[in-house]
Amino acid sequence: MAEDAAVRCTGLVRRFGPRLALDHVDLEVARGEVFVVVGPDGAGKTTLLRVLCGLLEPSEGDAWVAGRSVRRQPEAVREQAGYVPQQFGLYGDLTVWENLCLFADLYRVPPPVFEQRARKLLDDFRLGGVEGRLTGALSGGMKQKLALACALLHRPQVLLLDEPTTGVDPVSRRQLWRNLYDLARQGITLVVTTPYVEEGERANRVALLHRGRVLACGTPQALRDSLPGVVVEVAAQPRARAHAVLRALPEVRGLHVFGSRDRVWYEGADAEALRRALERDQVRVESCRAVVPSLEDVFVARLSEA
Ligand SMILES: Nc1ncnc2c1ncn2[C@@H]1O[C@H](COP(=O)(O)OP(=O)(O)OP(=O)(O)O)[C@@H](O)[C@H]1O
Ligand SMILES: [Mg+2]
Repeated sequence: MAEDAAVRCTGLVRRFGPRLALDHVDLEVARGEVFVVVGPDGAGKTTLLRVLCGLLEPSEGDAWVAGRSVRRQPEAVREQAGYVPQQFGLYGDLTVWENLCLFADLYRVPPPVFEQRARKLLDDFRLGGVEGRLTGALSGGMKQKLALACALLHRPQVLLLDEPTTGVDPVSRRQLWRNLYDLARQGITLVVTTPYVEEGERANRVALLHRGRVLACGTPQALRDSLPGVVVEVAAQPRARAHAVLRALPEVRGLHVFGSRDRVWYEGADAEALRRALERDQVRVESCRAVVPSLEDVFVARLSEA
């Protein structure tokens, strides 16, 4: 993959004063891949995308977008990358068509091709007919599709989307993922950030980012398989005592609360051994069974190791 990777980061560092926003990030994204970066607030998601679209210089290391170095060829990188920022980047008091024109100017899309491309993009995203409407008056889902259309006007090979599903209703969210996979089928590479770990399930490959570091990276299945031991879901009372008993067991590597149940990362023989340990200590066990690990289990486990 290395030679024709759509995106590659090697030893990428970005500092803001003493703060390490990106801490030696190594990543590779293949052409046409839908790559999701999952990370909590302040993990470095926006910083990573800004570096990848040539807006922010790395402090150390380098990144390549479609073979162009962000350090040495930021102009060329900007031609190859489309960026949909976290904050709505369009002008609400301009019409849909005016926003498209603005982006065309910004990315120097020549007028003869602009009109044809803009019409095709509006059609593809089912925005035909709203050209004259004020952008601020569009629904959230429509605004987002327009932001995508604007970012695609200059035909980038790589599209970088910063938290496109945050605050978006479930129907628009599903539609957005469909649109993103359509773009991937056309050979466009997508790097999508999200704070929601379950959205990593939608990725071809996912990276877990925390405090600027990649804690794990791979297909969702590979990440689940990489977890040593099993995840046991426990419902037991009194809960505080159950936690104390579980945490004291050497085979219990981690425990996190998930609603009314606890998820226990366990490297012991089987779930029944956990049940026996709890009952020995007068804990009432309602249920105790091994479950398929979720990406959240993997993230929590990697966090507790880090
Ligand atoms: N321009 C800046 N000046 C100083 N510190 C910054 C700047 N931009 C980001 N940081 C810091 O770098 C770290 C990573 O920030 P970043 O915005 O990349 O995280 P994020 O994952 O996008 O977070 P969020 O989920 O809140 O959008 C944070 O600690 C943030 O405070
Ligand atoms: Mg951000």
